[in-house]
Amino acid sequence: MAKIEFDPGYVSEPFASLCARYPGRTVYPPKDFRLEWGPIFHRGRLDGTSRVLVIGQDPAAHEAAVRRILVGTAGHRVQGFLAKAGLDRSYTMLNAFLYSVYGRNAGSRYAKDEKVAAYRNQWLDALLLTSPIEAVVAFGGLAARAWKLYAKSGSAQVSRAKKLPFIHVPHPTYPDSAAGDDEAKERALTAEMLEKWNDGLRALRSALGHPDSLRALRPYGQRFTPRELPPIPAFDLPAGCPAWMQGEDGWAVRSGATAGEKRRTLVVAVPSSVRLPPPER
Ligand code: URA
Repeated sequence: MAKIEFDPGYVSEPFASLCARYPGRTVYPPKDFRLEWGPIFHRGRLDGTSRVLVIGQDPAAHEAAVRRILVGTAGHRVQGFLAKAGLDRSYTMLNAFLYSVYGRNAGSRYAKDEKVAAYRNQWLDALLLTSPIEAVVAFGGLAARAWKLYAKSGSAQVSRAKKLPFIHVPHPTYPDSAAGDDEAKERALTAEMLEKWNDGLRALRSALGHPDSLRALRPYGQRFTPRELPPIPAFDLPAGCPAWMQGEDGWAVRSGATAGEKRRTLVVAVPSSVRLPPPER
């Protein structure tokens, strides 16, 4: 039997306590956040081996299924970015929001929310306290805002946080959401974003004293190549996740004829690339 690594979860302090008590509807109103899908806390190392803190925005459909953040389209893009920096394992990802944002502009309305920041700052404190973080990468404006609020707070690890190299790059799915159905615009925005990611990559590589691998810098071109969208490692996912959950996005979608139905329904389908025996007659 092959040994399959998995993420053991929230077994040690201070993370176990952070997961036992988390904010609900008084901090995250259900009209603006999908509380019905529960909080999704993180992805990556919580065992004191993390070198880079990645901050994302909010979880989406794939994340609701896997219970780890950044595992869908955005997650594959982030994974590829980290790999180019020589990071295959020693990272931790947190989102600005614990729950998926509902509605287009809700995220910005909570960008400076003190109650949202208070719990998030506890996670940032916990991570900085337990891990030798060497750099922070924020993907998107809301992520950058979250870090800046932390750096201005009275939190325990702030003096250390202020000394860390901070790299702010566009959110990985910004081109998709900004372009809508306009493919030419999406291509142009992706090329623009990848140029900024190349700058971020150089900054991250020079900030990192202890990458997992030393590899030559291969900057992005105009678009993502398949090699730049690596699988999500099994050791980042809870025990027992099927291998296809590590793979390319598209296996989880919200679905429904009405907004209410869509909010309630997540369709998870085994990708057609997975071979199954023919159905019994
Ligand atoms: N999924 C996440 O968990 N975070 C993002 O920022 C985007 C998708």
